[in-house]
Amino acid sequence: MSPSPVTFSSPDKPASYSWEATDEGVAERYGLPIEQVVRFDLNTSPTPPRLVAGILAGWRFETGLSEYPPGDYRRLVEAAATRYGVGSDEVVPGAGADEILDMCVKAFLPAGATAVVPVPSYAMYRVVTEQRGGVVRPVPRLGPGRGFAIDEPAVRAAAADAALLWLCSPNNPTGLPEPAGVIERLLADLEADAAAAGRDPAAVVVDEAYAEFTGESVIPLRSRFANLVVVRTASKAYALAGLRVGFAVAQPATLARVALYRPPGSVSTISETVVTRALQDGEEMRENVVRVDRERGRLAAGLEAAGWPPYPSVTNFVLFDLGTPARAAAIAERLMRRGLVPRTFGPDHPLAHCLRITVRADHENDRLIDAARAIAEEVSA
Ligand SMILES: Cc1ncc(COP(=O)(O)O)c(C=O)c1O
Repeated sequence: MSPSPVTFSSPDKPASYSWEATDEGVAERYGLPIEQVVRFDLNTSPTPPRLVAGILAGWRFETGLSEYPPGDYRRLVEAAATRYGVGSDEVVPGAGADEILDMCVKAFLPAGATAVVPVPSYAMYRVVTEQRGGVVRPVPRLGPGRGFAIDEPAVRAAAADAALLWLCSPNNPTGLPEPAGVIERLLADLEADAAAAGRDPAAVVVDEAYAEFTGESVIPLRSRFANLVVVRTASKAYALAGLRVGFAVAQPATLARVALYRPPGSVSTISETVVTRALQDGEEMRENVVRVDRERGRLAAGLEAAGWPPYPSVTNFVLFDLGTPARAAAIAERLMRRGLVPRTFGPDHPLAHCLRITVRADHENDRLIDAARAIAEEVSA
């Protein structure tokens, strides 16, 4: 049995370049109709905002589809700046947060330089760092009893001579933000250490892909710390992952370094138009956050009753401790046979004994809870 059944990697590609299986891939492998496949592994929101239908029905986009999008994405940038409470010269858009992460590497990490990653965290920090010839210096997070928070002194020491520090708050895949004040203190400490050593501090990229679920952000710190870049996205709380829109937020001079690597038209006109409206509206995003908050508790309780202890989460996903890597893999395989795709972690991963589950629509969550109960009976029978 494969320990990571959702990543169907190709033998001729390095592990960094194997992405999640597609719905078609899962359906084919398990002989299921594609309609039965539900993605509990991607931390997306199940229903796009209603405003999308109106825009698409009217075919009214910022510019005609036969033309390129406006190179400065002015309306999108203004909508994001207003939403995040910053100036329009403090926002750079990209094709999803992932493209922003890639731009940050190009801007701040010379080939051969070191990037610090508190682990476990979002896998793309390692991928984009290594794609650019950088060296990842992993720093283990504190344990579950301490909310998987970063080990502040260890990260500070590791980042002292690094070019880049990747932070993720709330952290994927563990589901909690850093404790209050930690990121601010770390930024101040890194600045002091760098001044004492007569060098520039590492660029600190804080990925806030899930920030809307908490209402908290370190964006206000950007005015004090020139080395801070905050990353946001339309993929999670805004339920628009398929449009691929994300943002970097930082001081104008810092952002100018990131913007050097922005392709002129990687965000499509359709994406630009819809995300601009979603950011201006905000209402459907808030409804989604309230819905996720309610459903997360129900889903976690239902799965806990089936023998899956959850870790606390403030996001649209929950990490469950299945006890051992073997049990996690066996349950994942049985879920997959039913078309329910959990996020698994490879055998060498510190969370190999866990499954990460996205909070999906109520009826989809019910399917998962029922399956978990049935699997518990199968396994104990
Ligand atoms: C922490 C984190 N950052 C970034 C992303 C990617 O976001 P986007 O869809 O905007 O590229 C994800 C998606 O899972 C994520 O979990």
